Amino acid sequence: MLNGKHIILGITGSIAAYKAAMLCRLLVKEGAEVKVVMTPLAKQFITPLTMATLSKNPILVEFFNPENGEWNSHVSLGEWADMLLIAPATANTIAKMTTGIADNLLLTTYLSARSKVAVAPAMDLDMYAHVTTQQNLRTLAQRGVAIIEPGAGELASGLMGKGRMAEPEEIVEQVKAMLCPHNYSPLHGKRFVVTAGATIEKIDPVRYITNHSTGKMGYAIAEQLAARGAEVRLISGRTTLDTPHGVERIDVLSAEEMYTATTKEWAEADGAVMCAAVADYTPKHVADHKLKKGDGEMFIELKRTKDIAHELGAKKQGRVLVGFALETDNEEANAEGKLQRKNFDFVVLNSLRDAGAGFRGDTNKITLIDKAGREEHPLMSKRDVANIIVDKIETLFNR
Ligand code: C5P
Repeated sequence: MLNGKHIILGITGSIAAYKAAMLCRLLVKEGAEVKVVMTPLAKQFITPLTMATLSKNPILVEFFNPENGEWNSHVSLGEWADMLLIAPATANTIAKMTTGIADNLLLTTYLSARSKVAVAPAMDLDMYAHVTTQQNLRTLAQRGVAIIEPGAGELASGLMGKGRMAEPEEIVEQVKAMLCPHNYSPLHGKRFVVTAGATIEKIDPVRYITNHSTGKMGYAIAEQLAARGAEVRLISGRTTLDTPHGVERIDVLSAEEMYTATTKEWAEADGAVMCAAVADYTPKHVADHKLKKGDGEMFIELKRTKDIAHELGAKKQGRVLVGFALETDNEEANAEGKLQRKNFDFVVLNSLRDAGAGFRGDTNKITLIDKAGREEHPLMSKRDVANIIVDKIETLFNR
């Protein structure tokens, strides 16, 4: 699960350093690339050779290699890392982290790191319980450092109490949750159908009826669902967008084709997001040759298309169904009508009256409406909007 993740494992001078060997092995086994930075004192507790062998990388302790003068750049280390994990973290290192003391490579790396930082404290129970240590841990937590709580039990000193470094397996679980939060999403393994983009209704072999939808909103939602581990079938009208990573795309043109593809996928799905701008009418007859212009007016007879969302809502059976409402007037009343009629769990309302909302652009301004009420959001990127929508979908799976 940690495939391709870069982790700096910082080891400080605690007897729990022996557990860092197992921790390193488990991280590598999960697919992470691990570079180990040790404090000078840590070398007294576990040999650099052990850690180099397990991490498959040279160990870094000093600012430079005394044999050839080569510099160990804490800045590039900090940039390389997805996470700096200090385990075990002594009271001394924790205290230095809070004050910005930078007298070894591990501490300078901490100060340069742009990545997530986690510490797994390991110390004697009185040191751990000391008001200074507790205050330092609170300070680090307030600054966004994750504290992997120590366990209670027999300590190396023979005393009983809290201060024993968390077990390597538990630390790895917490690292996975921090680096791959989406694998812990309730959407993991759920199957979703997303409709996106505009449909195209043929008039003759040359002309058609369509609308301004680009598909950007639906594509962003499909991408976000997939990023959280959902299996996504994206039923897409014609667009110029690339298929989002991990999404299976099914191309359609007309409302009828979208209806057929979507209802088929719905049979196996756990949820659907209806984002497409589906034509409400389609030409009653499609000419098989290019219509010639004449002197007079031209009339095209239109017939109603099928309402795909309505059909899914009628066969909902407790599954999750989310719809969109793009309105130009009477926005909320119209959106609430759709919530009822189409049996949506919630409706994403966007108004063409709001600048930057709706079609074409990269931004949107939405209000989420469900039976409990409404939730208005400011103008933001479609990617951020997708995040908010998918967050709300998650809550429906947690209920
Ligand atoms: O009724 P209205 O077209 O405004 O409803 C919008 C919602 O219904 C959107 O979620 C849209 O994707 C969906 N819809 C549909 N099939 C149609 C028309 C709308 O799925 N034929």
